[in-house]
Amino acid sequence: MTTSTALGATITGWGTALPDIVVTNADFEARLDTTDEWITERTGIRERRHGGTTASLAVEAGRKALEMAGLTGADIDFILLATTTPDYQIPSTASQVQEELEINGGACDINAACSGFVYGLVQAHGLIAMGLKRILLVGAETLAKVTDQEDRNTAILFGNGAGAVVLEAVEGQGQLLSFDLGSDGTARELLDAPIGGYINMVGKEVFRKAVTVMVDSARTSLSDAHLTSDDLALVVPHQANIRIIEAACSRLDVPMDRVAVVLDRTGNTSSASIPLALVDAIEHGRVKRDDNVLLVGFGAGMSWASAIIRWTGRLPEENA
Ligand code: UT7
Repeated sequence: MTTSTALGATITGWGTALPDIVVTNADFEARLDTTDEWITERTGIRERRHGGTTASLAVEAGRKALEMAGLTGADIDFILLATTTPDYQIPSTASQVQEELEINGGACDINAACSGFVYGLVQAHGLIAMGLKRILLVGAETLAKVTDQEDRNTAILFGNGAGAVVLEAVEGQGQLLSFDLGSDGTARELLDAPIGGYINMVGKEVFRKAVTVMVDSARTSLSDAHLTSDDLALVVPHQANIRIIEAACSRLDVPMDRVAVVLDRTGNTSSASIPLALVDAIEHGRVKRDDNVLLVGFGAGMSWASAIIRWTGRLPEENA
C-alpha cells in the first residue's frame, strides 16, 4: 500500500531496554547438548537476555522515548504495545504501561508475533490519520518465559527486550512511504505456543518460508514506493537468524553493510527485534536525513510485514 493521507507521522523519540541477565552460548553449552560453534554458525546469536517483565521493559523503553521527544505521558493520545508475551491474559500489558507512564487516551496490545512492531507502526499512522496527535508504540517481549530452557531447538534462540518510538502527527505524508502487511493462517502450526505452554517450532520450514515472505513483502513495499533496493540506505530486518537475514538481503541485492543486525547480542526478541535493531542503527549514526529505511519482518501466524520510511524525523544531533 502507498500511504496517502493529509496527516502523516514522524518519529520524534526512541528508546530500548534489555534486562540484566546475560545468557551466553557457553551457558547453554554447559547444560545442553549444544556448542557455541553450532549456535553461532547456525544462527549468528552469541548471547540473549533473560529477566524483567514485559511491562517493566516496555516502561523503560517507553520512558526513554518520551524523554527524547521532550514529552510526558500526559501528552500521548494512545499507547500501542506489540507483544506475544503479555504479563497477564487480561488485561493488556499496554494498560499497565499506561498507568506507569501516566499516559492519556487508549491502550491496547497487538499480537502479530515478530511482525508486531511494523503492524503497530502502520496502525499508529492510521490513528494519526484519524486525528490523534501523539502515539507511543512499543515492541516488548519476555520470550524466555515461554521457551523450554531444556529444549536446545528453541532455548538458544529467544530472548527478552523492548524498543519504543514516539510518533507525532505532521501535515502531509510524513515518514511512511509504503507498507505491506500479510498473514497466512494455514501456516500457523509451524510456530505456536499454547496458553500456559512453551514454543513449538518447525524451524526448517519457518526458515524457508521466512526468506520467501520477507523478500516478497519487501519487493511489494519497494514497488509501491517507486523505489529499488539501490535506493535503500538501511534495511532493518526481524532478528531471528543471521542466515535468514543474509539469504533475504542477498535476494534483494542489499549488501550486509546496509543491514542492521543486533541478534548476536539479543537473540530473537520477536516484536522487540526491529525497534532494537533500528535504534541501534540510529545511535551508531547509520541513519541520515532523507534516508530510505526498509523495516521487514515475519513471524508466527504466519505473519509478515514491511514498511519503508523516509527519515525526515529526528536524528541524533551529529547526523541531523
Ligand atoms: O521469529 C521467527 C521464529 N523462528 C525462526 O525464524 C526460526 C527459523 N529457523 C531457524 O532459524 C533454524 O531452522 C534453526 C536455527 C532453528 C535450526 O537450524 P537448522 O540449520 O535448520 O538446523 P536443523 O533444524 O535442520 O537441525 C540440524 C541438526 C539436527 O540434528 P540431526 O537431525 O541432523 O542429527 C538438530 O537436532 O542440528 C541439531 N540441532 C542442534 N545441534 C546443536 C538443533 N538444535 C541444535 C543445537 N545445538 N542447539
